[in-house]
Amino acid sequence: MSDARRVEHQQTDRGNIPVYATGVVEQPWERYTDSDHATWGQLIARQADILPGRACDEFLEGRERLGLGMAGIPRFSDLNRVLLDATGWTLIGVEGLLPDHVFFDHLANRRFPVTWWIRRPEQLDYISEPDLFHDLYGHVPLLLNPVFADYMQAYGRGGMKAHGIGADALMNLTRLYWYTVEFGLIDTQKGLRIYGSGIVSSKAESIYALESPAPNRIGFDLERIMSTRYRIDTYQRTYFVIDSFEQLFDATRGDFTPIYARLAQRDAHAAGDVLTGDRVFQRGNRAGWDDSADN
Ligand code: PHE
Ligand code: CO
Repeated sequence: MSDARRVEHQQTDRGNIPVYATGVVEQPWERYTDSDHATWGQLIARQADILPGRACDEFLEGRERLGLGMAGIPRFSDLNRVLLDATGWTLIGVEGLLPDHVFFDHLANRRFPVTWWIRRPEQLDYISEPDLFHDLYGHVPLLLNPVFADYMQAYGRGGMKAHGIGADALMNLTRLYWYTVEFGLIDTQKGLRIYGSGIVSSKAESIYALESPAPNRIGFDLERIMSTRYRIDTYQRTYFVIDSFEQLFDATRGDFTPIYARLAQRDAHAAGDVLTGDRVFQRGNRAGWDDSADN
């Protein structure tokens, strides 16, 4: 453990370049400023208004059990007591983005890396990299759900394997993470709900993902997802909908090695494509899409 640094992307004249940091750090809780706590407070208050009726029950319950609605940036040590007892996961502090294999190794051992620092006040609505709010509020509530908790560990193991197979396999697997853990929707008796961390940690996308007529909403299909490109700079063009966390976990049990081999022979689909065979909840009207850059 060392003094925690704040590792952010680097701005260059060719755009932003991600910077990676491998270390595990103690959460420097005393270093949070009044402004940091106020930023946290604003973000949780905004999401508390928006998420009932939009986020899935499992997320909302996890959030309550962790006390993430309370004022002030939480201490990882307090959350860890709840988490460890519920599903055996532990939060660890990190300084920024982790290299893939380091991230996978943590997940495979039921350790969830959380960026210790929070975004600046002018980044309330958008930040291009994960910060404390995204990692903690977005990801951790579902780690209290036993099925989802197991899925995340299995994903970590699968990541180690894909890393050994090669870059294409890793990309296929990353798309699965993106379209489930980060941007997934779930079909419930009450209607479509959000479970993806990238959505629940964004005020505007929490509304957009469920209510906008622009994006596609398509039923979960493992290989379909693994062969679909995604957007990192705009709202998603397609959201994939699971029926249950059991469905997600069951669909990913088998060995992916033959799937990677198969996908290597085919072209990927664009983020906004609708294909024959898709189970379509909504075919997006593509409003606001710039089709010159449909990748
Ligand atoms: N079953 C996958 C494999 O063999 C691993 C995995 C599990 C990936 C769960 C994602 C989610 O690679
Ligand atoms: Co995330």
